[in-house]
Amino acid sequence: MAQSKAMTGVYIACAATACAVAAVVVANRMKARSQKTTARKILLEFQEACDTPLSRLRQVVDAMAVEMHAGLVSEGGSKLKMLPTFVDRLPDGNEKGLYYAVDLGGTNFRVLRVQLGGLEGRVIKQEYEEVAIPPELMLGTSQELFDFIAAELVSFVAREGDDFRLHEGQSREIGFTFSFPVKQTAVNSGTLIHWTKGFKVNDAVGQDVVAALQRGIERRGHKMRIAALVNDTVGTLAGGRYWNNDVMIAVILGTGTNACYVERAENVSKFTGEIPESGQMVINMEWGNFWSSHLPRTFVDELLDNESLNPGEYGFEKMISGMYLGDCVRRVLVKMAQEAGIFGTNVPHKLLEAFSLRTPDMSKMHHDDSSDLKVVAEVLKRVYGIQNTTVGIRKIVVEVCDTLCQRGARLAAAGIVGILKKIGRDGSTANGSVRRNNMFEQGDMNGYHDELPVNYTSDGRTVVAMDGGLYEHYIEFRNYMQEAVVDLLGEGSKNVFIELSKDGSGIGAALLAASHAEHVPSTF
Ligand code: GLC
Repeated sequence: MAQSKAMTGVYIACAATACAVAAVVVANRMKARSQKTTARKILLEFQEACDTPLSRLRQVVDAMAVEMHAGLVSEGGSKLKMLPTFVDRLPDGNEKGLYYAVDLGGTNFRVLRVQLGGLEGRVIKQEYEEVAIPPELMLGTSQELFDFIAAELVSFVAREGDDFRLHEGQSREIGFTFSFPVKQTAVNSGTLIHWTKGFKVNDAVGQDVVAALQRGIERRGHKMRIAALVNDTVGTLAGGRYWNNDVMIAVILGTGTNACYVERAENVSKFTGEIPESGQMVINMEWGNFWSSHLPRTFVDELLDNESLNPGEYGFEKMISGMYLGDCVRRVLVKMAQEAGIFGTNVPHKLLEAFSLRTPDMSKMHHDDSSDLKVVAEVLKRVYGIQNTTVGIRKIVVEVCDTLCQRGARLAAAGIVGILKKIGRDGSTANGSVRRNNMFEQGDMNGYHDELPVNYTSDGRTVVAMDGGLYEHYIEFRNYMQEAVVDLLGEGSKNVFIELSKDGSGIGAALLAASHAEHVPSTF
C-alpha cells in the first residue's frame, strides 16, 4: 500500500515535469512564431521601401540622362561629376611593344605587363601579379601609399623574363589605373578630388597623383614614364574597344560602381580647350555620386551613410556596390534582432560591427539552394557565432539578401539605360537617326535624346563593357540587372550587349599607355 502511494507520487511528479516541459516547448514555439511574425512584418515594410517597379526605374533612367546633361553644361552642375578624361583616342589593335599597368582602386592592387604585336599579333603575352592592399595603407599617408605602388612596380619589372622585350629606344611606359575621382588636366596628369570606397589618405587630396607615383619610382632610382592616368571604367572601355569597335560604354560593378562613355568632344570643349581631331572624348561619370529623389531610400541607407567615411556623398554607390551591399543586409538583420529577437534575447555583439557582413557572404547565403538553408546557418555561425536558427528565420535572411540585391541590380540597370538614352542608343531612335528633343525648354523628360555620338555603327549595335567582382560572381545580381535592362529597353534591347570584360581595366590602361606613348615603335 505504502509502495503504491509512493509510485503514485512518482507518477504525479513525472506528469508535472512532462507538463512543465510541454509548457516550455509550447511557450518556445509561440515565441518563435511571434519572432517570425514581427520579423516578417519588418521584412514586408522594408521590401515595400526598396521596391523598384518599372515606373520608378524609368524615372531613374530619365533623371540619369538629365543629370548627365547638367554635369556637362557646367562644372558642379550636377552631383554627377562628368569628368573629362582627355582620352580622345581609343585602342584600335595597331598598338605594338611592351607596356605596363598598375591598378589601384578596389580590394586588390595589380601590376601587369603586356607585349602587344599590332593587328596581326595582338596580345602576344601578358603577365600580372595581384596583392591585397594592406588596410593600414588605405588610411595612412600619401607617401606610404605611392611608395608601396612604386615598390611593387619596380620589383615586378625586375622580375621580367626574356620573352618580354622593349623595342630599341623605347622607355618603360605605364598606364596608371587610379579608380577614384580625379580632375584631369591632360591624359597623364590630374589631381585627386576626394577618396571613395574606404580610402582616406588625407594628404593626397588635391595632389597630382601621377607626380606622386613618379616621385615614388624615382626614389627607387628608376626611370619610367606614366603615359596615361585612367579610371578603371576608362581602362575597361579601352580594353573592350581594343577587340570590339561597338563598345561605347563601360561600367564597373565591384567594390565601388561607376561608368564612363564616349561623348562628343564639342560637348566638353569648354573644359578641355581644343576639340581633338577624333571629335570624341571619354567622360568618367563618377555615377556613384548620382542622386535623385526617385531613388528608393530607406532607414538602412541613412544609417550607413551617416556612419560612412564620406557622408552625404556617393549615395548611388552605397545602394549598389560590393563594398556596401553586405552591410545593408546586416543593418536590416540588426533591426530584426533588436525588435523581433530573431537571434535570441541578446543581439550578437559582432552583428553590431559595421561591415562585418561582407558581400561575398551575402551572395553565398542568397544562392543557398539546400532545403534547410544550411549555407545560411553556416555563414551566421561562422561570422556571428549565431546557432540554432530555425529554417523560418533563415528564409527571412535570404529574403533580405534578395531584396537588397534586386534593388541594387535594378538601379544599376536604370543607370545603364540612362546613359544609352543620353547618347541616343536606347533603341527609341529609329535606325540610328538623330532626334533632338529640347526637354529643358519643354520640361518633358520622356523621349529625350542627345545627338548620336561619333562612330555610330551602321547596324546600331552598342556594347557595354562590364567589369567588377560583383557582376562577375554574384549571379543573382547579374540576372536581376540583365532582366531589368531588357524590360526597360523593350525592343531596343536587341541591339544592346553587355559583355563581361574581365580585368579589362588593367590591360586597357596598358593599351592607353601604348596609344599615348612618347616613342611608338613602328616595327617590332
Ligand atoms: C568609386 C570611384 C570611381 C571608380 C569606382 C569603381 O566610385 O570613385 O572612380 O570608378 O569606385 O571602382
